[in-house]
Amino acid sequence: MNIISVNGIKLAYTRRGRGTPLILVHGFPLDHTSWNEVAPLLEDRFDVIIPDLRGFGQSTTIESPYSISDMADDIAGLLDGLEIYKAAIAGHSMGGYVSLAFLKNHPKRVSGLGLISSQAAADSPERKDGRYKTAADVAEKGVGVVAEAMTTKLSADARVQEFVRRSINEQGKSAVIGALKAMAERDDMMSHLAALNADFPVALIHGDADVLIPVERSRVIKSILPSAKLFELPGAGHMPMMEFAEATIEGLMSLTQ
Ligand code: MLT
Repeated sequence: MNIISVNGIKLAYTRRGRGTPLILVHGFPLDHTSWNEVAPLLEDRFDVIIPDLRGFGQSTTIESPYSISDMADDIAGLLDGLEIYKAAIAGHSMGGYVSLAFLKNHPKRVSGLGLISSQAAADSPERKDGRYKTAADVAEKGVGVVAEAMTTKLSADARVQEFVRRSINEQGKSAVIGALKAMAERDDMMSHLAALNADFPVALIHGDADVLIPVERSRVIKSILPSAKLFELPGAGHMPMMEFAEATIEGLMSLTQ
């Protein structure tokens, strides 16, 4: 992996292919490897840049609290380092929250937005409390508690479950805690999305069997932003880029059209 210094951390990333720059942002609590199956299929059309968000994979982090917006600004720093001004950005779940924050903070730098198994609304008070409880649990018992709680919810496919269980267990405790708190405090982005121009490319990719973030969350975005393209994947859970790679790619390809 390549490493770049941004905002006081070392950010790891991979880069492959040629064409429109496309940043793929992984979800919680995973890393760049969640894109391993789709990345090779995108490289004919895109210059594919895949970071490990702060603390995850091979990126370092800081102990003090940070936000989803800080994670988005890490990506801006990465693009600066690569001398790329404008890119499409597509995020999986938490990566979608980061992509939305990137769009909010750096609107002129975004040529298209993909949200995969994600949502634009902020957490309910109950969800927020739950995140702080999970963070306390992880501090006490380690990331294994998250692997146990999340693995079967991420996908019903045994192959994908094996991958995510291993990947979650490889992540650092402070990254998992930092991201839980950042997600709890993230902004609601619904009105921001609703205000986008109709010619701005937005792709919503969502499995109808997602038990973590229901497909209704993408349908509601489509209802406030009718120009968005909604790709509903029948039978897909929370990990469509591994469960239905071809259909996920079709959605991402729409960001260049
Ligand atoms: C993710 O997959 O990134 C998380 O489940 C998102 C969330 O907890 O809101």
